[in-house]
Amino acid sequence: MKKALIFFALIIVVAVFILIVYQIKTISGSRSDDSTANISSVAVSVYVDNCARCHGSDGGGFGDKPAIDNTKMNVEEIKIVIQYGLAKMPAFQNIMDPVLSELAEYISSF
Ligand code: HEC
Repeated sequence: MKKALIFFALIIVVAVFILIVYQIKTISGSRSDDSTANISSVAVSVYVDNCARCHGSDGGGFGDKPAIDNTKMNVEEIKIVIQYGLAKMPAFQNIMDPVLSELAEYISSF
C-alpha cells in the first residue's frame, strides 16, 4: 500500500516536471521564433495589465484619467516616466528592457 502511494507520488512529480519543462520550452520557443511579433504582444499585455486602468485601452484616457495618445514625449522620455512615475502616476520599476522599450514604442504608436 505504502509502495503504491510512493509510486503514485513519483508519477505526479514527474508529470508536473515534464509539464513545467514543456511550458518553458513553448514560452522561450515562441519568443525566438518571431521575436518582434511576440515581444510586442508581451508589451501590449503589460500595457493592458498595468496602464489601461488609468489611460484606457487605446491610451485615450477617460474621466479624470489622462490621455497619453497625444503625448509629446519621445520613447526615451516615456521610458523614464514608466520607470520613475510622474506626479500621481506610480513608478513601474518591475518593467524592464526589452519589454520597457517595446512598451514605450507601443505608446508612441498610439
Ligand atoms: C494610477 C494611475 C496610472 C497608471 C496605472 C499609469 N499611469 Fe501613466 N499617468 C498617470 C497620470 C495621473 C499621469 C499624468 C501625470 C502628470 O503629468 O501630472 C500619467 C502620465 C503618463 C505619461 C506622460 C504623458 C505626458 O505626455 O505627460 C506616460 C507616457 C504614461 N503615463 C504612461 C504610462 C504607462 C506606460 C503606464 C503603465 C506601465 C502608466 N502610465 C500607468 C496615471 C497612471
